[in-house]
Amino acid sequence: MVRPAAFLRGVHEQFGDPVTIRTFWTDEPMVLFSGPDAVREVFGLDPAIAPAGQSWEFLRPFAGPHSILLLDGEDHLRERRLLQRPFHGERMRAFRPMIADLAERELMSWSGRVNTLARMRELTLEVILRVVFGAHDDAQVRALRGVIDETLEGVRSLPQVLGMVLIRRDLGPRSPWGRFRLAVERFDTLLLELVARRRAQPRGDSLLELLLEARDEHGRSPTDRHIRDQLVALLVGGHDSSAAALAWAFERLARHPAVHARLAEGDPAYLDAVVREALRVRPALTIAPRRLLAPVRIAGLALPAGIQVAACLWLAMRRADLWPDAAAFRPERWLEGATPSGLSWIPFGGGVRRCAGAPFAEMEMREVLRVAAQLRLRPVRPEGERARRSMLVVIPNRGGEVLIG
Ligand code: HEM
Repeated sequence: MVRPAAFLRGVHEQFGDPVTIRTFWTDEPMVLFSGPDAVREVFGLDPAIAPAGQSWEFLRPFAGPHSILLLDGEDHLRERRLLQRPFHGERMRAFRPMIADLAERELMSWSGRVNTLARMRELTLEVILRVVFGAHDDAQVRALRGVIDETLEGVRSLPQVLGMVLIRRDLGPRSPWGRFRLAVERFDTLLLELVARRRAQPRGDSLLELLLEARDEHGRSPTDRHIRDQLVALLVGGHDSSAAALAWAFERLARHPAVHARLAEGDPAYLDAVVREALRVRPALTIAPRRLLAPVRIAGLALPAGIQVAACLWLAMRRADLWPDAAAFRPERWLEGATPSGLSWIPFGGGVRRCAGAPFAEMEMREVLRVAAQLRLRPVRPEGERARRSMLVVIPNRGGEVLIG
């Protein structure tokens, strides 16, 4: 799984669909499905017998007890309703100009050789800090950025992420675990200050304020701690994934000058098609796993409790029977009418766990690629970049390197 694209292509060629694999992060076998009917069944599994929250358990020390990522069942659905409100319709679209400005400022400063993955990590973090968290002065953004880097570094070295079975032992503030705890404390202090300030003096320009307006079924407003956990879920869900998806879009565009030229003509339908096609051929996440607590049948197969099942996003979007010339980056296919059903294009997963930030992620990609269309992009090397795993996402192994000008 270090080279997930080559691995998935290989197992598919050798064993077909479905296929059972083993991963380094769990002892349980995992059955991958990619056909639309089976994918529908996986996404439709009752969360009581196929929870997804447990897969994120390693994040608890950072994500917090209210995190949508960790919850399952009714608690998860309640959290999802609260979190999804700001991501719909006009209210979300109001953030478009801010994202466009940040994208313009970033991309227009580029020259020479650019590692787009590194730059997109900076940009998507900046978008989250300013547009989602509502940090507006530069000092605040710098302070948050510093502790987030430290905290995410700590998350990356959590034993479960590294695939090691270690016991977390706090051996004082200098131990890795101790440093991680301190970074989370510093991060929390800054974030809770921001929440308190926005509660006292709303400015009307952040997703945080829309979260603050939410009320639970008893009409109560969420506590600051609760809001903190929601913001962290958006940071964890939306930072690396968006950066990886955008770096892949640059990697593909630099190698397809005709697509880039057509994008530069400014047709919004074509821009949408480029976003969809980039997410199809180079999805940032390859699988959406669920752990089975009871036996189920999927695609006619009897599956026992105690294993994992997953919709394989990568294979579903590469099926030769559904996507003619499946490996090709050809946005035109989206404008030529008949494209396969929604269950064959699943970069954001599906069912009750479908990506809560999908509309935001697509908007962000559109704004960045709209500016990218104005640049002269060339690949540093002609051959495409290989896919490599970095934490939970799949990235181009040379960082989506491009030459500008
Ligand atoms: C192109 C960028 C993105 C991709 C490819 C992506 C993909 C995904 C996928 C595959 C899942 C798991 C779905 C499942 O298990 O069925 C997910 C979950 C999630 N994503 Fe995203 N995501 C992106 C951007 C974002 C952004 C920008 C945000 C927030 C601002 C976000 C927030 C979340 C959250 C909160 C969840 C957990 C949902 C739940 O458990 O109910 N994502 N994402």
